[in-house]
Amino acid sequence: MTLSAVGPAANHPPGIVGVHVLPADHHDGPWDSIITPPEVKERLLGTALLVLRHGWVLGQLGGAPHGLVLLSGPPGTGKTTLCQGLAQKVALALAPRGATTFVEVDPHAFPSDMLGEGPRAVQRLFSDTLPELAARRPHTIVLVDEIEALAVRRSTASFETNPVDVHRATDALLSGLDMLRTTCPQVLVLGTTNFAAAVDEAFLDRADLVLRLGLPDRPTVERILRESLAEAAGIFPGLLGVAFDEALIAELAERCTGLDGRRVRKLVLSAMGSHPEVALDPGLMTADHLRAAVDAELPARAR
Ligand SMILES: Nc1ncnc2c1ncn2[C@@H]1O[C@H](COP(=O)(O)OP(=O)(O)OP(=O)(O)O)[C@@H](O)[C@H]1O
Ligand SMILES: [Mg+2]
Repeated sequence: MTLSAVGPAANHPPGIVGVHVLPADHHDGPWDSIITPPEVKERLLGTALLVLRHGWVLGQLGGAPHGLVLLSGPPGTGKTTLCQGLAQKVALALAPRGATTFVEVDPHAFPSDMLGEGPRAVQRLFSDTLPELAARRPHTIVLVDEIEALAVRRSTASFETNPVDVHRATDALLSGLDMLRTTCPQVLVLGTTNFAAAVDEAFLDRADLVLRLGLPDRPTVERILRESLAEAAGIFPGLLGVAFDEALIAELAERCTGLDGRRVRKLVLSAMGSHPEVALDPGLMTADHLRAAVDAELPARAR
């Protein structure tokens, strides 16, 4: 899910791909669209609210928060969407105390060449860009998607295959985070990765919460299918029959368990696109089109 930014992208500082002022009605969808056990969302929301609401006073504690939350898990398990949803959810809860700025960082925007520009750019991000953005509103959430690109694990990144700059960029990220923690304790940094083994240990160690999202279990797959079909039926009423066919949903869920959430959601689209006549009138999609979409999705041995 992509969120629309305030103003043209060209206006963003280097490395920043989106700046949003929240809460905003059109950011309402992502949080509820991701189905997790309730305790996952409670913990995520709890950690975020604690940092953003009490970051300044908690800074006095010996074990002060770093204001860093990491979501790790396989591709398509809802990490990015959940972070986007969290920003809106937190902004709604904190709205009586002022608005929240949601900043999206592109970790690939920092060059990893031998000229030292990458680490310098990371340093500038934490020393100038983020503090300037954080000064605009009482609460700030920064999302660094695919953070393994910036927080490269130094213990396994060899100097032969990785430019020295890659190591320096990790150093710059760690010292930048430490600096941000003291100058702007009301800032929450969210990172996502589907390759936690590639993320630097010292970075992981700083996280106040490392949330591991797994592949959806069978009841979750069933809910994703039910919601996806209901959503499609809201647009194409001809699909109301399949959308409320609980036996069909249970049958499909049984076979799809083991797929990630993104693949499960795409099944409905895949069934709609399976024949030109169905594509032109998706209300014609039947249970068999969905079964065929599952057949096409699953590896041959799993059918
Ligand atoms: N648990 C889930 N419940 C409902 N939808 C899900 C779930 N997991 C993933 N999805 C759907 O899959 C799509 C992809 O989600 P998202 O991009 O957030 O995943 P991701 O974990 O960030 O993936 P990647 O690691 O590839 O970046 C979204 O449309 C989302 O709604
Ligand atoms: Mg993602």
